[in-house]
Amino acid sequence: MMLRRLRLAFAASGLLGLTLVPFTVHSDEGNQEQKEPKPVAPAVPTNTGLLLEPPLDLSDFTYETFVEMMSSVGPEKIRKPWTSPVVLLPRHTRADAKGLTAEEVKAYMMQTKTLFDKGKAIPVSDVGLISTQEDVIRRPMLNHISGFENDVVRVYLLVQKTSSDQDWGYYSIVQDLTVDPALDYYAHIRESGPHFEGQSCYKCHSSGPLAIHPTREDLVLDAPLNAAFNQHIAEQPRSRPHFLTEHPEDHGEPLTLKFCVRCHTQDKDGDRDALFRTHSHPIRVLVDFGYMPPNRRLKPEEIAELKAWLEVNS
Ligand code: HEC
Ligand code: HEC
Repeated sequence: MMLRRLRLAFAASGLLGLTLVPFTVHSDEGNQEQKEPKPVAPAVPTNTGLLLEPPLDLSDFTYETFVEMMSSVGPEKIRKPWTSPVVLLPRHTRADAKGLTAEEVKAYMMQTKTLFDKGKAIPVSDVGLISTQEDVIRRPMLNHISGFENDVVRVYLLVQKTSSDQDWGYYSIVQDLTVDPALDYYAHIRESGPHFEGQSCYKCHSSGPLAIHPTREDLVLDAPLNAAFNQHIAEQPRSRPHFLTEHPEDHGEPLTLKFCVRCHTQDKDGDRDALFRTHSHPIRVLVDFGYMPPNRRLKPEEIAELKAWLEVNS
């Protein structure tokens, strides 16, 4: 219920051309009712049998090594003081835009990269669970994630490398809020500029930006910022990936198990978009590590049903 009301508040603020930034607004007012965001629970495997690979042993990867590797991006760019987990962007130049152009989307991607490079972003720095576990890379995946917004977009920047890479890669998601549902653009920002991608991102990003889940409790630089960022992600508007409007691949039948579909549904009133077998990697990880469903553990028979659905080859 709470979520629905907040989403309405966002929609209304969009109409009035105002920007709602819950954290700064509340701290400016000194509002005592502002609830602390729920801390992110530590990642603990629960032996559901859903994982395809044994949980990775990272006990040799120390906190000191983590901090050193994270700082290699430029220590002045990270661990920033903050009041809001999201940086406010200047107002959009084209008033009354209904659908941003590809050039406008790319300009937002470049603008947020520049802000990060100048130390003007508020990154959450962590070793992410979903990309570190299973067969994706099986070594620490280092992420700096920052959020930005104005009244027409939410922009996310991911600055990423694995523990054995030299160079940091830049990835972006822009949510165009001038259309309903919002449209998500995904891109890899290369030397030559942003290159849009779709399917390769959609297999983990089923509903747009993902909440941040560190693979170990201490492998995050600012846990309260992580919690505040995740609250922003949980309250995001319903959106769909732009690439599906141009290449509507057939993803087969959506997941219909009721203990997931209560929230993950094609019905526009649901919290999140539908899940398909394409999304089996984040499904296996988030359920096994106890994050999904959010408020309880699945019963053995429910795990068996989910496992059976994931194992059908189609
Ligand atoms: C293997 C799964 C996976 C794939 C594939 C993937 N991502 Fe992500 N992405 C994640 C996870 C997980 C996070 C959150 C990281 C964390 O918990 O530290 C994330 C975070 C992000 C963020 C920061 C905002 C957010 O969602 O929290 C951006 C931007 C992003 N990804 C862009 C991309 C783009 C662009 C692509 C395709 C080129 C892509 N990702 C492909 C798993 C994936
Ligand atoms: C009570 C509502 C609810 C239920 C039930 C639920 N989820 Fe979620 N799920 C969410 C929300 C909200 C998010 C985004 C915030 C987060 O990741 O913490 C999410 C995130 C996810 C994600 C990451 C992609 C995304 O949509 O952000 C996956 C994958 C996922 N859930 C799988 C499942 C599976 C599988 C089940 C059933 C076993 C399930 N969830 C049950 C609410 C729910």
